[in-house]
Amino acid sequence: MRSVTLPRFSLQGWTAEDISDPYPVYRRYREVRSVHEGADDGPPTFYVFGYEDVVKVLSDRNFGRVSRSTEDGVPLSLPVPPEFAALRSVVENWLVFLDPPEHTRLRSSLQKEFSAGVVTALRPRIARIAQELLSRLAGRADLVSGFAAPFPIMVICELLGVPAQDHQRLRDLAVALQGASTTRTGESRHIDAEGAARELTDYFRDQAQRRQPGEHDLIALMLGIPLSTERVVGTCVHLLTAGHETTTNSLAKAALILRGHPDLLADLRDYPDLVPTAVEELLRYDPPVQAVTRWARQDAVVGGTTIPAGSRVIALLGSANRDPARFPRPDAVDVHRPADRHLGFGIGIHYCLGATLARAELEIGLRALLDGLPGWEKAPHQVEYADDMVFHGPARLVLDLPTSP
Ligand code: HEM
Repeated sequence: MRSVTLPRFSLQGWTAEDISDPYPVYRRYREVRSVHEGADDGPPTFYVFGYEDVVKVLSDRNFGRVSRSTEDGVPLSLPVPPEFAALRSVVENWLVFLDPPEHTRLRSSLQKEFSAGVVTALRPRIARIAQELLSRLAGRADLVSGFAAPFPIMVICELLGVPAQDHQRLRDLAVALQGASTTRTGESRHIDAEGAARELTDYFRDQAQRRQPGEHDLIALMLGIPLSTERVVGTCVHLLTAGHETTTNSLAKAALILRGHPDLLADLRDYPDLVPTAVEELLRYDPPVQAVTRWARQDAVVGGTTIPAGSRVIALLGSANRDPARFPRPDAVDVHRPADRHLGFGIGIHYCLGATLARAELEIGLRALLDGLPGWEKAPHQVEYADDMVFHGPARLVLDLPTSP
């Protein structure tokens, strides 16, 4: 390891240029050592850059989701001030913010609803949604607001059995709610998130009350497990947030990467069977979730750095996926590389519950884009990244599509 002095690391305050390509920044830190202290306010924060150390943190029960330093066990990874009661009550029910044994119980109840069989049955409906959205794009079109964003929300609406016409409102609310947990700054984000949490709670409570015996959507299935209404409402909101911005960002970034790699794009058109492996490689190369947070329960040594108990530990999935110790030529997009385990969906007990669904959405969404939107790959474009280094991707990807002859 080289002895270079770098400023303390943070995921806040990045320039637009670094946000659009964070990998050289990660590399500078990773080449010095795998774990760096953070510059952030609040509890001591450590950032983990190297693949093996990210795996270690996410696989080790010493690093939990819930900070034991809070008396009431409210997860500090989404700091919610007490006056924001609706937001707290929704978030407290999220699988991703639970530790075992509660996590194990809820996860095993939900697991079968996200199985390969359930996803396979959904595929024709997913394909229809993708084709329908793409068919509406013409002229000057934003691929994010016109396709990548509504697509996964409409899929989640299908899964939950809620009306597809509610998708725009649900997306707006999910975005407002998610703003509270990201690297975006500003106090108003909690106020927006609280309002969104209240509206979403009312919405899903109402949906739960409407379910009749014999219905088979996810809300009905969760009520039949049985889960409490609060758990069902919290889980619906969780799926809405966990399942949409991630997929939106993956699709938009995939489109950008393919525009920059015309040979790969041509290969995928000629050999559509390559699409599933391309999806995996794109999730390695530029994952939409760049970082996940844990809390150290006891003192621990990671990558030669001592992390004191009570510290916040941020595992940088984006950096780990470009670690040359794990992935040779990490900055090349190579769909033929051995399917070594990338960390785009995380690892350990919180490994993405929706990974099978997400893979199907990405595969179907990419195929639809390759076949269903003529000329998009060469159309003049403008891209603008969201100011967010956790849920990472373009907020807008505007294309001037060719007019049909
Ligand atoms: C967890 C990524 C799509 C539901 C996670 C985690 C990551 C992730 C990295 C781990 C979080 C942690 O360790 O703290 C992604 C990516 C997606 C995607 C990259 C799309 C490309 C989805 C979809 C759903 C979903 C479509 C469901 C509709 C969940 C849930 C968890 C989770 C419920 C929490 C699992 C647990 O705590 O046990 N996801 N996700 N995700 N994801 Fe996804």
